[in-house]
Amino acid sequence: MDKRVDGSRIAVVGLGYVGLPLAVALARHFPTVGIDIDQGRVAELRAGHDRTNEIDGPTLGASSLDYATDIAAGADADVIIVTVPTPVDQANDPDLRPVMSATRALAGILKPGRGTIVVYESTVYPGVTEDICGPEIERLSGLKRGTDFFLGYSPERINPGDREHTVDRITKVVAGENPQVLDRLCEVYGAVTTGGTFRAASIKVAEAAKVIENAQRDINIAFINEITQIFGKVGISVWDVLAAAGTKWNFLRFVPGLVGGHCIGVDPYYLSHLAQQLGHYPRVILAGRGINDGMGAWIADQIHERIGSGARVLVLGLTFKENVPDLRNSRVIDVVRRLEWLRHEVVIHDPLADAAEARHEYGVELAGDALSGSYDVVIGAVSHSDYAAMPADRLAALLKHNGLLADLKGMWRDVATPESVRRWTL
Ligand SMILES: NC(=O)c1ccc[n+]([C@@H]2O[C@H](COP(=O)([O-])OP(=O)(O)OC[C@H]3O[C@@H](n4cnc5c(N)ncnc54)[C@H](O)[C@@H]3O)[C@@H](O)[C@H]2O)c1
Repeated sequence: MDKRVDGSRIAVVGLGYVGLPLAVALARHFPTVGIDIDQGRVAELRAGHDRTNEIDGPTLGASSLDYATDIAAGADADVIIVTVPTPVDQANDPDLRPVMSATRALAGILKPGRGTIVVYESTVYPGVTEDICGPEIERLSGLKRGTDFFLGYSPERINPGDREHTVDRITKVVAGENPQVLDRLCEVYGAVTTGGTFRAASIKVAEAAKVIENAQRDINIAFINEITQIFGKVGISVWDVLAAAGTKWNFLRFVPGLVGGHCIGVDPYYLSHLAQQLGHYPRVILAGRGINDGMGAWIADQIHERIGSGARVLVLGLTFKENVPDLRNSRVIDVVRRLEWLRHEVVIHDPLADAAEARHEYGVELAGDALSGSYDVVIGAVSHSDYAAMPADRLAALLKHNGLLADLKGMWRDVATPESVRRWTL
């Protein structure tokens, strides 16, 4: 283990998709403790199992990362990194409760004059770290920011299931409240990534950079979703249009689809919340959100128009993206609910999703892992590798004669199915 001579001790608060890979990477260089309030999660990690599939068993087993459920385990840390969730509530407003609860907990372990650096990695809007979290730490601890403790922000860019852009390879944007803090954080993050660090001009700039990265993707996908709807009326395939337009050197490559997950579909709401607080109505950002949030119902209506009433529908995939088990904020459920509302019978299959979580999160039952039966419609909703690799005869066998194969991901565009199979590709 290459423990750094500067002896920084690190605590990572929140061991989810972001926190665990970061903590494991940090533990290769620094004494690191990972803290999570979810006792089940910590017990599983101690036993060498990561249910998010981001860190494999041998890597987890070989890691010197310590685990704790009590924030007190971070009392000796020089740097405390907060990686807890930042979802939206029912009204699509930022739900800062996990961030505030972690902030309140860590305020209780800071010591006068110690100079602990508290770094937020959770995605927030500009101002949360310095104008909300910092003052809350001061209020609860009675300590002074800038002498007793310092603030930093470093957005996380990893992408669940992406084995190329991992935490130890991507450029890390780092911000600190003064040059010394920034230097220290660049040393810490610089030790874990070969992608280097980027010194953001300020904490608010770093917060803003993250939130616009995802808002930009959301808006671009919304544009493609809108043209998909237009070209559907024209009777031409958006995929054919994109293939043609994509030959231009500066055409941006985005594809139509459902925008789920807890980043792209959520972060723009953080930005629009801030904008509206400041008296600016964000037209482009919210228009994009509106189109993308309505895409599930639009897809269901397209399928409904092509099938008779009371169809039996098989939906392949429920997770929010391909090859991950993460069910949170999956927009496939919008397709399912709309089809059920239109009185079709829907069966959902997803071998990567956890059945109990699907029941808890959406109140749906998953079919068993084995694929069988005969349906009026098969919807390819998530391009898990096993689905994308399904041959024509396998797909046809799942469909009744003249059944509809609805390909929401364009994953079967090159699969030549028999004439008895009708096709619709988003
Ligand atoms: N998942 C991603 O791909 C991704 C990518 C970039 C940024 N982000 C951002 O990173 C942050 C974390 O996301 P995530 O996907 O890792 O979330 P997650 O839900 O996978 O993990 C969060 C973990 O924090 C724990 N937690 C919640 N409150 C806590 C508290 N008070 N103290 C200690 N632990 C607590 C939870 O038990 C959970 O294990 C979010 O702000 C998210 O927007 C996520």
